[in-house]
Amino acid sequence: MLVLGIESSCDETGAAIVDETGRVLSDVVQSQVSLHAPYGGVIPELASRDHLRNAGPVVREALARAGVSWDAVDGIAVTNRPGLVGALLVGVQMAKGLAWARGLPLVGVDHLVGHLLAVFLRRPAKDGAAATPSATEGVAPPEFPFVALLASGGHTAIYRVDGPSAAEVRELGATRDDAAGEAFDKVGKVLGLGYPGGPVIDRLARTGDPKAVPLTLPMGHTKSFELSFSGIKTQVAARVREHGIPKSESELAGVCASFQAAVTSVLAKKLVAAAVQEGVRTVVIGGGVAANRELRARVTELAREHGIRAVLPELASCTDNAAMIAYAGLVRLRAGERDGWNLVATSSTSLPRATRKGRGAR
Ligand code: KG4
Ligand code: ZN
Repeated sequence: MLVLGIESSCDETGAAIVDETGRVLSDVVQSQVSLHAPYGGVIPELASRDHLRNAGPVVREALARAGVSWDAVDGIAVTNRPGLVGALLVGVQMAKGLAWARGLPLVGVDHLVGHLLAVFLRRPAKDGAAATPSATEGVAPPEFPFVALLASGGHTAIYRVDGPSAAEVRELGATRDDAAGEAFDKVGKVLGLGYPGGPVIDRLARTGDPKAVPLTLPMGHTKSFELSFSGIKTQVAARVREHGIPKSESELAGVCASFQAAVTSVLAKKLVAAAVQEGVRTVVIGGGVAANRELRARVTELAREHGIRAVLPELASCTDNAAMIAYAGLVRLRAGERDGWNLVATSSTSLPRATRKGRGAR
């Protein structure tokens, strides 16, 4: 079974072909980062227009790189939530048009479910464009149930995942305010590092002293799996207001390392603690922040200390891509599920929320 996945929820236009085993035959990602960079964040209207320009060529490229014709495709999966509605609409309408024209079944995919299942993708080293040094072919996929940390630019939560459908995902705790990736991006902005801040902070932090700046993370020491990231961003911003942006490279690296250490240690600690509480032997991570080197190292180490298996997706599977959408759609199609021509683009996720936004007594 081969599924074409289409992703256009934010600032990446993606199309990919994935098979039943999670093997990625092609994964084309057209990034809009340079388009939005001058504004320090994603401009929804610019995003929609760019998706419209790129969607056709990106889908054609995904088929070409996979070396398959339309006759080999068994279904179409498209991100229909959550995200920017105008951006989502481009992918949804394109998927409907293609499914109708080719007589193929269509399924909508929740982008967050895509991130949660990205760990099942196998990227063969020969797919030059998509391959990373840590090709996952040969690594056993995780077994259900597992506990997952999803940390992206818009969402951060810890889930118990009993199976691949959205109904089998239960939130154990989520951020009360900013997402982890959002905190990386905001700190990157106040430090003058451009957008998105995550990958730059990750790089700069490597040479920095994580004890250079004392930073505390709210909710870091409670037993609850709820999280909070807006306070630490405010601490960094206050420091920059007082002392200015660090002038020396080593001082800048120290701020980045201190911030990253605080965020990644709490994420790793709560993920593993959640698995212990649930009596689950496997943890996985997903979302753009799962590409962070320090988070990957901390999760691997802490899990090992507790006799828990940590399965990490490849870097290309962490940030937004259409292969994870194709795979999540394939799971639905295989279960006999179909969506109709009334499939709509929605800004909110279908995953149940347990954590209330905002501060105050609980
Ligand atoms: O999953 P994603 O590509 O898009 C969303 O669904 O939001 O995540 C993007 C987020 C951005 O906030 C970006 O700064 C962050 O992931 N990110 C990272 C790294 N790579 C991307 N954060 C920390 N370290 C990284 N290496
Ligand atoms: Zn995402």
